[in-house]
Amino acid sequence: MTIVVTGATGQLGRLVVESLLRRGASPTDVVATGRDEARLAELATSGVRTAVTDYADAASLAAAFQGADRVLLISGSEVGQRLPQHTAVVDAAKAAGVGQLLYTSISHADTAQMALATEHRETERVIRESGIPFTFLRNSWYLENYLSQVPTHLEHGVVGATRGGRISAATRADYADAAAVALLADDSAGQVLELGGPSFTLAELAATVASVSGREVTATEVSAEELTAILVGAGLPQGYAQVLASADEGIGRGELEVNTGDLERLIGRPPTTLREAIEQTLAP
Ligand SMILES: NC(=O)c1ccc[n+]([C@@H]2O[C@H](COP(=O)([O-])OP(=O)(O)OC[C@H]3O[C@@H](n4cnc5c(N)ncnc54)[C@H](OP(=O)(O)O)[C@@H]3O)[C@@H](O)[C@H]2O)c1
Repeated sequence: MTIVVTGATGQLGRLVVESLLRRGASPTDVVATGRDEARLAELATSGVRTAVTDYADAASLAAAFQGADRVLLISGSEVGQRLPQHTAVVDAAKAAGVGQLLYTSISHADTAQMALATEHRETERVIRESGIPFTFLRNSWYLENYLSQVPTHLEHGVVGATRGGRISAATRADYADAAAVALLADDSAGQVLELGGPSFTLAELAATVASVSGREVTATEVSAEELTAILVGAGLPQGYAQVLASADEGIGRGELEVNTGDLERLIGRPPTTLREAIEQTLAP
């Protein structure tokens, strides 16, 4: 069975390829794709096949999907460009006769109102309309989104606009493992999987960073407008700051809270917890 992974040069995709191999996929059955040729060369050292693909280059997609049984479309990183890019991938998969298309979406993509959900919802629609058997891997937040902020939390506290909402974040490694399981499974077609780890609030995040570090860490909830201004003041572009504030508002509505148990069931073990991840982050 030939499995193509798009975005394999990225952080999640590399982990999916590693997990596929760990779970017994033959390296020659795996095709890792992306634009970055240096990263593809690194991936090739594990024995997998590689192909340079660009979502803007239909011929590159057609060549990579030739003979593919399953394709994992890892959502692109160019927010605002993703619907046409993902549509190009779906069109190429359809033309190549791919048997199953798996897509890394976002929690509650069908109903979530946060700005980031729009392209995922539209992509899911395009995939459904293509008629290709599909699996939606609706990932909640990456824990790493917060782990990279731990030094800031220690200095300035945790600041957000979540109104105490819960966040079912999990590590990229756990989401990648779930994707590998779904890629290798016989029964994942037709499934919409809501994936996430044990949920926490920003107050619980601050308390955990405080507990692990032994330092005081505050948690402050502000309005979305205030958060946008704070992020712009910290150097983020206005548009990106607004997208992040919109995501926090969505958290306040429960849009990144997941209680299905799908992630634990797929990977066959409890996902890494916030505390474990912060302990690893702060380990000397
Ligand atoms: N759940 C969350 O908290 C969260 C957070 C951030 C992002 N995301 C989403 O999850 C995806 C995977 O996360 P990640 O951490 O692995 O992101 P990442 O490290 O930025 O990787 C993105 C991947 O997409 C590929 N890509 C982007 N544009 C492309 C194009 N036009 N044509 C071909 N390939 C393209 C990149 O390929 P090259 O590097 O080779 O160009 C790279 O392999 C992101 O792209 C984003 O949609 C989710």
